[in-house]
Amino acid sequence: MKEIKKVSWRSPSNIALVKYWGKKSGMQIPANPSISFTLEHCYSETTVTLLEKERKSKDVELRFYFDGKENMAFRLRMLKFFDTVAKDFPLLQQYGLLIDSTNSFPHSSGIASSASAMSALAICLCDLQDQLDKKKTAKDKFWQQASHYSRLGSGSAARSVYPYLSEWGKARGIKGSSDDHAIPFEKNLHKVFKTFQNTILIASSAEKKVSSRVGHSLMKTNPYAKTRYEQANKNLAGVISALKKGDLEKFGTIVEEEAMTLHALMMCSSPSFILLAPSTLSMIEKIRRFREETKLPVFFTLDAGPNIHLLYPNTIKRKVDNFIYGQLEQHCEQGKMIHDNVGSGPFRVK
Ligand code: DP6
Repeated sequence: MKEIKKVSWRSPSNIALVKYWGKKSGMQIPANPSISFTLEHCYSETTVTLLEKERKSKDVELRFYFDGKENMAFRLRMLKFFDTVAKDFPLLQQYGLLIDSTNSFPHSSGIASSASAMSALAICLCDLQDQLDKKKTAKDKFWQQASHYSRLGSGSAARSVYPYLSEWGKARGIKGSSDDHAIPFEKNLHKVFKTFQNTILIASSAEKKVSSRVGHSLMKTNPYAKTRYEQANKNLAGVISALKKGDLEKFGTIVEEEAMTLHALMMCSSPSFILLAPSTLSMIEKIRRFREETKLPVFFTLDAGPNIHLLYPNTIKRKVDNFIYGQLEQHCEQGKMIHDNVGSGPFRVK
């Protein structure tokens, strides 16, 4: 089949500091605003090749490869996503699509890949459609669109398209903030946070018992939902002020409160569920004790899973490494961990 065009983009994962947990009715509208660090080493790399179509029908012709192997489950997820964005991307019906995606982190590491994977795909589509339309969309506009389409694939993916720090969701006092797409927030970042490390301590790589999609929907009946959304707005304002000033202590207090609240909300959902592992709690206790004893700015956050994301400035990396290998490694599944840091966002590979 004749190849028409091909693009490859690398897009990173992100780690939320104030969590998105709960959706309003509509298409992926967050119940509260969130903010995240963009990562560097945990990324997806996606190549989309447009081919001459085999049949003259409006059906999407898609072959999807993950890590070099055809993957039918992911293909179905892509097709669902394409359904929601088809009207904005005529290329989806005009050409055959060959998509090849890989993650830098192992599939079995328990790290959610939807943010990096969906943002990489959305960026490829925006780039290809622009090329076909011979359009040179202004940079700001391009990234805003990429964030918008990423969001339709997976909410947290909206935040992956900007370097260092992204905010997503309409928030009082934040100019340009929107439920529709994330906004770049790097200019509000004190230099100490630009060096931040994120060591992901793999407590368990087992498949999650409850997906984020189901978790979000259980917020609809969670008795603490209203209080939670108020808290998230307050924490967003607080963490932004800490990020601007370089206030590590305030940053850590809010980020850890957000992580614990996220899991508390899961535990008091109906039905209740627990995504923490016993080793997650052992590590949290050790991190708090280590901080108490050394007064070093080492904090943790959690995703919708049992793995710890350890956050600390680069300047204390050696001391934290000693702590990690001396005290935390033993709680990681087969000693597994990933060393990451805040990073500069997506880029075009070819
Ligand atoms: C706990 O973005 O994975 O990581 O929009 O349904 O795809 P969908 O959910 P998803 O939820 C992420 C939840 C979180 C918090 C966060 O990243 O803000």
